[in-house]
Amino acid sequence: MKVTVVGAGAVGASCAEYIAIKNFASEVVLLDIKEGYAEGKAMDLMQTASLNGFDTKITGVTNDYSKTANSDICVITSGIPRKPGMTREELIGINAGIVKNVSSSLIEHSPNTIMIVVSNPMDTMAYLVHKTTNLPKHKIIGMGGALDSARFKYRLAEALGGPISDVDGMVLGGHSDTGMIPLTRLATRNGVPVSEFLSEERLNTVKEDTKVGGATLTKLLGTSAWYAPGAAVSGLVQAIACDQKKMFPCSVLLEGEYGLNDISFGVPVILGKNGIEKIVDIELNQAEKDNMVSSAEAVRKVNDLLEL
Ligand code: 2OP
Repeated sequence: MKVTVVGAGAVGASCAEYIAIKNFASEVVLLDIKEGYAEGKAMDLMQTASLNGFDTKITGVTNDYSKTANSDICVITSGIPRKPGMTREELIGINAGIVKNVSSSLIEHSPNTIMIVVSNPMDTMAYLVHKTTNLPKHKIIGMGGALDSARFKYRLAEALGGPISDVDGMVLGGHSDTGMIPLTRLATRNGVPVSEFLSEERLNTVKEDTKVGGATLTKLLGTSAWYAPGAAVSGLVQAIACDQKKMFPCSVLLEGEYGLNDISFGVPVILGKNGIEKIVDIELNQAEKDNMVSSAEAVRKVNDLLEL
């Protein structure tokens, strides 16, 4: 199993680290445009191998896509991260050009790869990768919902005053401060609806805190977060590499599911060796459906800014 991670910044390097620590991939190639940077990160990570007990070989390369040839999975983290006060959507001007170039260079050397898109604005970047590469739709996965759901579970556990391992829940919709849809109705504490424990008001606070999860961290850190994004990507990579048939909300091209077409948008999917094995079309209530419609409209407005 060969995995390429493009972008050796904080998200890309964390992603490579978590993949290596889980020890399921034989090789991770870390690629960056900054001379020597990916090589340095790869060497530093390889020097943790004996300490952390992994055998995954991490190689760093400066912009040499021939070294990524025949990757089973490629992760795109390249582009600029947001600064405090910025929305993810504001990054489109710079990141669209980068993601277009990166995805076409990757596909040249790994025509059968599965691509995971992390760069922001993520739903639009995943859509751009569809338009740029023509890969079949089950092979392009936008990472947002897995991260947003992890942040939702963190906030739920905090409100419940219990461990995160007791909590389950999903965030659908666009990966943006206003577009995320944390499904409080379906969230549970060991199978019991969280509404049994938390008032509607408390659940609304959990929802709002979840939606600005990334923005809160950007304000604290001065740049966007990396540990949880890296861990979320490694979870998707592992589900594919190990054919786990695990369910995550991911941004995928919709053709009628949830009443939406020609958009990459956050819905639950089953991930396995073929990438997206199935889109899970769950029954939403009217308020949730309305939220899906307005979130999708916002993503479309950003998609319209693409020069395709
Ligand atoms: C985040 O929400 C990087 O979009 C990512 O932290």
